[in-house]
Amino acid sequence: MLPENLKAGIEAEISNLSLRELGETHADLSKRYRKGDRSIEKQYVSSQQHRQAYLSARLPATFAAVYRVLQEIQRVIPALSIRSLLDLGAGPGTAMWAAGSLFSDLESVTLIEQDPAFIAMGKRLASHALSHALQAASWQQKDLQQVCELSAHDLVIFSYSIGELKENMFSSIIDQAWQQVRQVLVIIEPGTPQGFRRIRASREQLIKNGAHLIAPCPHADRCPIQDPDWCHFSQRLERSSTHRKIKQGSMSHEDEKFSYIAVSKIAFSLPQSRIIRHPQRHTGHVDLRLCTDNGKIETVTFSRKDELYRSVCKADWGDPLF
Ligand SMILES: C[S@@+](CC[C@H](N)C(=O)[O-])C[C@H]1O[C@@H](n2cnc3c(N)ncnc32)[C@H](O)[C@@H]1O
Repeated sequence: MLPENLKAGIEAEISNLSLRELGETHADLSKRYRKGDRSIEKQYVSSQQHRQAYLSARLPATFAAVYRVLQEIQRVIPALSIRSLLDLGAGPGTAMWAAGSLFSDLESVTLIEQDPAFIAMGKRLASHALSHALQAASWQQKDLQQVCELSAHDLVIFSYSIGELKENMFSSIIDQAWQQVRQVLVIIEPGTPQGFRRIRASREQLIKNGAHLIAPCPHADRCPIQDPDWCHFSQRLERSSTHRKIKQGSMSHEDEKFSYIAVSKIAFSLPQSRIIRHPQRHTGHVDLRLCTDNGKIETVTFSRKDELYRSVCKADWGDPLF
């Protein structure tokens, strides 16, 4: 799924480090994220080795989550045409690569990122891209928490970035971003209870601002998922041998858990429901945990007798049922 030219760019960026160094730095970075430790320079990613570890061990997973979310949006809006992208808290430009893989009409990209070294890395990676939009992207070193002029774009994305903003800044930054959306706003967070709480709060705020839901929710009523439960999804991604060694894992894949919300300026018809857990498959029937268009969570059993049984058997966690 990760574009070959992006893989080549990442290999070039990490070539001066041994797998042991990348593995140790990745372990340190994961610990900082888990503990909420931003002691050095108030950033989680705060050294060049951290950035290199991020590229090799986290970017493939955040790319996979963004790609999946954009595909879910395309399922609801098949004719969606995205010409311009604004990526807020862009890091090395992960979301731009995912959007570039899916929207062939992408013409211009603006990336806002506070860290100049991530920007330098992102520009070097983009030099490997085939797309002119990615190569010519406008990188702007800005702190989203300072007064920050943003301009209107078709698609605006926060990918794994709102959780790094101060809680008291959060809602004003989302308001500001929403004002710059021409078509679609996407917010993706880690699929943890904290990540989901931020997504649920953003959802409420955006609905109050007149946003129309695209995914994952099939309705705009109050979110039926309350603490300690959380709404999240999972995207499987292949691990390269480097990726596997850095994470000291034996599996050839990993499952990235994420929570998200996608909204638009105009209303589209939504699916009847969305599968919010792994389907429980049994002989002759399948149980699906669904968020439904009546604003409720329901477990529904489909048996061989049901008309939808064949299509439901192929459906997976996160898929919509139309
Ligand atoms: C976890 S990384 C995500 C990077 C990328 N969006 C991705 O999905 O891989 C979070 C990024 O948000 C950036 N960030 C955090 N707070 C920011 C702020 N106040 N202004 C601009 N960028 C910020 C960080 O520097 C970091 O690059």
